[in-house]
Amino acid sequence: MRITLVTVATAMVCLMGVYGDVQPQRDFDLQRFAGKWYRVGLAYDSPGFTALYRDKLRVSMGILNPQTNGNVNLTMWTQRSSGCRSKFYTYEKTAIPGAFTYFSTRHNKVKDITVVETNYNEYALVLKHKKMDREYTQVALYGRSQKVKNDVIQKFRDFATSRGFPKDAILTPPPAENCPPAGR
Ligand SMILES: *[C@@H]1O[C@H](CO)[C@@H](O)[C@H](O)[C@H]1NC(C)=O
Repeated sequence: MRITLVTVATAMVCLMGVYGDVQPQRDFDLQRFAGKWYRVGLAYDSPGFTALYRDKLRVSMGILNPQTNGNVNLTMWTQRSSGCRSKFYTYEKTAIPGAFTYFSTRHNKVKDITVVETNYNEYALVLKHKKMDREYTQVALYGRSQKVKNDVIQKFRDFATSRGFPKDAILTPPPAENCPPAGR
């Protein structure tokens, strides 16, 4: 009996696969999710994420362009000490709407992206982690504008806290200055 339970539990973990115990947004609609987003919140608990970097963190802007095959192109603009940098990503679709994977050249690892919750016109809660490794999980809050409602911020804080992030790892950075540069 005991062995059977363990087997069932193991099978379930395997089935749930890429996104663990978190379900993506029900009836996820990629077309409605497309367009401009601002990353207004970030929960990131890793030794490399120093206090110095936290203080420099600013709101990033991203433009999401769905491809016809269901994959997604994403361009993100991030303010760094060296200036405003843009980065291009392609998120590959999975069998589950709202769950994507991408290959991180920085970490040389496949990562999972799950859109946990979104109302499309205001905010999105996005969970990211390395495959088969729950330690470096990251939660991001995206907003359609640089400012989101307080109850949305609270939702993000509650979710990040429920994922085990300590308070000082849950950040809502100030707006970026001229990133992407005006006129774009
Ligand atoms: C997505 O990116 C690929 C590779 O750069 C490009 O060929 C394609 O046209 C892009 N599609 C969209 C919808 O942006």
